[in-house]
Amino acid sequence: MDALQIQGGNRLEGEVSVGGAKNAALPLLAASLLTDGPCVLGRVPALADIRTMLKLLAELGVTVDHQGRRVTLQADGVIHCEAPYDLVKTMRASILVLGPLLARFGEVRVSLPGGCAIGARPIDLHLDGLAHMGAEIAIEHGYVVARAKRLKGCRYYLKFPTVTGTMNLMMAATLADGVTVLENVACEPEVTDLITFLTACGAQIEGAGSDRLVIEGVARLHGAQHDMIADRIEAGTLMLAGAITLGDVTVTDVVPAHLEALIQQLRETGAQVDVDGDRIRTRGTGRPGSVDARTLPHPGFPTDLQAQMMALMTVSDRVSIITETIFESRFTHVAELQRMGADIRLEGQNAIIRGVDRLSGAEVMATDLRASAGLVLAGLVADGETWIRRIYHLDRGYEQLEGKLNSLGAKVSRVKAAS
Ligand code: EPU
Repeated sequence: MDALQIQGGNRLEGEVSVGGAKNAALPLLAASLLTDGPCVLGRVPALADIRTMLKLLAELGVTVDHQGRRVTLQADGVIHCEAPYDLVKTMRASILVLGPLLARFGEVRVSLPGGCAIGARPIDLHLDGLAHMGAEIAIEHGYVVARAKRLKGCRYYLKFPTVTGTMNLMMAATLADGVTVLENVACEPEVTDLITFLTACGAQIEGAGSDRLVIEGVARLHGAQHDMIADRIEAGTLMLAGAITLGDVTVTDVVPAHLEALIQQLRETGAQVDVDGDRIRTRGTGRPGSVDARTLPHPGFPTDLQAQMMALMTVSDRVSIITETIFESRFTHVAELQRMGADIRLEGQNAIIRGVDRLSGAEVMATDLRASAGLVLAGLVADGETWIRRIYHLDRGYEQLEGKLNSLGAKVSRVKAAS
């Protein structure tokens, strides 16, 4: 298993381009199942999760042509409507094939994903919404089995604005009979990007960017070409890398409007953040001040940047509180940060972080993607060497993070561990 070795203490400086968003790419790839293609997607990041989704689509019978950043999908010969356990358990986003397969082919078997390191993560709202659209749903031998000759438009209020739940219901509604009104939907930029693509495929969707979508079902969707949005979480991670090393880092090719909450909180810590078109420059001006950050659905502070923000707060000159409201156990990085000398106390959903003068490099291990990114940031400022184990988590969602950090002056190397 590969590990990252980080020599801490280097100030990061320079410009770095941000890639396409993983969490936009996964639903866009799944959406190809709704169309008779071809769908041409650009700016596709080279990530383990993307490869898993492409493998799943190929198993379902989609013709996949993957050339660098461009993927062409042709879903006119799909015959299998089953997403097996071995793929779904490695990547929960596989559940995104549920809505499209049911809407287009009338039946689907998708493995239930099971628990996850960051929380129970049920899919009850995906299933309840589809049931409101007329699907018959049963759980059989660990699989969701759903059937509906043709889904019917309905009004449905989501009890929580789940991101992939919104995507699944919205995709299903594009081919339903009649009008579907979805209330309290997720407004994440990745949802809006999916709407842009579906609209290019012939879908009728109103309300993009708001918490209410009105979708008029159509008989068929055709293929379209689409380049996905920038990865706001990769951008945010690199901005925080600039702040924590008291550096001067400019991320380019981003949509600053997607990062408003982070920009504001970084400014509260004393960092200087300047936005210029599709570029954001972050300068650490001194030891960071404190923030009280609360993760919330977009446009609130993203849970996917919580661990990285916590890393910054560990070296603040004050006390900060970070509250995680989206996932019930997304604090696995805390015990590892403590091994590096961080002073953090957990009280339920709250992490109380008393900044320390310095972190010290240690051997640490991560149990989820964003937790790993938080540990990398801590390693950048820790005294001496930090070893991060189990970096396959990192590779699921960051393309060449060490290469990007090194281009800014960090000293991070990937070490192939003897197995
Ligand atoms: N929830 C339910 N019932 C449901 C669906 C969700 O109770 O039917 C709960 C979840 O248990 C959780 C909360 O609602 O407590 C939010 O979950 P959501 O469904 O919004 O998350 P998701 O769609 O499974 C996506 C991203 C995550 C990101 C979250 C929140 C993708 C593929 N994944 O997950 O990304 O953290 O939204 O923004 O888009 C990551 O990239 O590291 C990652 C975990």
